Amino acid sequence: MSINREEAMELLLKYNETDALIKHALQVEAAMMHFAKYFEEDVEKWGVVGLCHDLDYEKYPKEHCKKTREILEAEGWPEEYIRAIVSHGWGTCSEEKPESLMEKVLYTVDELTGIINAACLLRPSKSVLDLNLKSLNKKFKDKKFAAGCDRDIILTGLEMLDMDKNIVFEETIKGLQERAEICGLKGEL
Ligand SMILES: [Fe+2]
Ligand SMILES: [Fe+2]
Repeated sequence: MSINREEAMELLLKYNETDALIKHALQVEAAMMHFAKYFEEDVEKWGVVGLCHDLDYEKYPKEHCKKTREILEAEGWPEEYIRAIVSHGWGTCSEEKPESLMEKVLYTVDELTGIINAACLLRPSKSVLDLNLKSLNKKFKDKKFAAGCDRDIILTGLEMLDMDKNIVFEETIKGLQERAEICGLKGEL
């Protein structure tokens, strides 16, 4: 059984109304879809997992991940999707460690898209379309910038993926560029 984007979107909007959270969901979705293509995996599945990864955060911040499991189980979602979503909170709100490729990518791009979003908002263009790797690396090194985005989680994710930081950063930027309009990062370009 698989979940399509329409169902996932409906569920996202049932539990979330804050613009920033919906935008974050769409950005993580964009990155996940891009990496699914990159690894020749199931684009819709990876996208859906990205879109709903923070499903419970607006209404149940203290039960983050746990509540999502409950909701998705009640909705009859396959365990593969639920486990992937819950494992993004490994070490902070979940004991399920990212194991599959999809889970490791989600774990890594969640915080990374947060830094990219913050970096875009500071640009004159407010856009991801003219953001490059060099300026992302600068923002990544500056720990005071978007301090809520945990650099150690990203570094741990890169280790799990056994991938070069610059490749992952570049591909994540590309993913957000491909869906810039949908995920609110087109800015004025
Ligand atoms: Fe989360
Ligand atoms: Fe998130």
